Amino acid sequence: MITSPGYALTNAWERAQRRLAGLEQTYDPTTRRRLSALGLSPGYKCLEVGAGAGSIARWLGDQVGPQGSVSAVDLDVSALRDLPANVQVRQADVRSDPLPEAAFDLVHARLLLNHLTEREVVLDRLVAALRPGGWLLLEEGDTFSIGAIDEDTDHALAMRAWCDVLATVADVDFGRKLPRLVVSRGLTDVGVECELPYAEGGSLGTEWLALTFDQLNERAGGHILDAKTIERWKDKLTQPGRWFASLGLVAVRARRP
Ligand SMILES: C[S@@+](CC[C@H](N)C(=O)[O-])C[C@H]1O[C@@H](n2cnc3c(N)ncnc32)[C@H](O)[C@@H]1O
Repeated sequence: MITSPGYALTNAWERAQRRLAGLEQTYDPTTRRRLSALGLSPGYKCLEVGAGAGSIARWLGDQVGPQGSVSAVDLDVSALRDLPANVQVRQADVRSDPLPEAAFDLVHARLLLNHLTEREVVLDRLVAALRPGGWLLLEEGDTFSIGAIDEDTDHALAMRAWCDVLATVADVDFGRKLPRLVVSRGLTDVGVECELPYAEGGSLGTEWLALTFDQLNERAGGHILDAKTIERWKDKLTQPGRWFASLGLVAVRARRP
């Protein structure tokens, strides 16, 4: 039985839909590029775990066509709407609910394992869900850039503040551990990339940063940073022409032998 607290940035939060949209805008272009490079084609059977608001499940559904299928799994499926007919939505806890074994040509998860104490068990389950020759693509967050690359001090302070709160319930530096853990599962054709997206002030990408800050600040009782810094930072985040380093990802792809 699972007793750990689980996911901290719940989709039940009143502004979660907008937050997930900002996350998708930040990372979808590179995720799609990486998935396309794996030879994704019509007829593929895909598993999208922790599907969130479903932009990648929707895109996968379009790529694999009517002969293919996508299983979109999430603990909270309320944001998974208006998906193509070949995308099946399933409410499940990936830590404990059964997943089909040796069934999928492609298994993808983004910003999921960071949040789960049982991340290694879940990794095993995702590997087991692949058919022989099937591809795994995992993309997990890492704070490697914070402070090191931000020109703006307020931005660095705010990013550090929300990542510190998240670190009490998640592994915010899990990205850097992913290559080793994937290799240890005996997978082949391993490839690793590091990504640091930038978001322009006034975009959905910077709104995502502000909303993530707000959700974690509320969760922590509202005092993770002083009010003046928050106000200055949020004002800058609305200004077109200013660019802000977002949260870094480490992406690992590998194949089941
Ligand atoms: C940070 S969001 C990322 C959403 C999506 N992967 C994306 O990148 O756009 C994490 C998602 O994982 C889901 N999740 C968290 N714990 C889960 C679990 N134990 N089983 C299934 N889904 C889970 C959450 O509900 C949320 O939708």
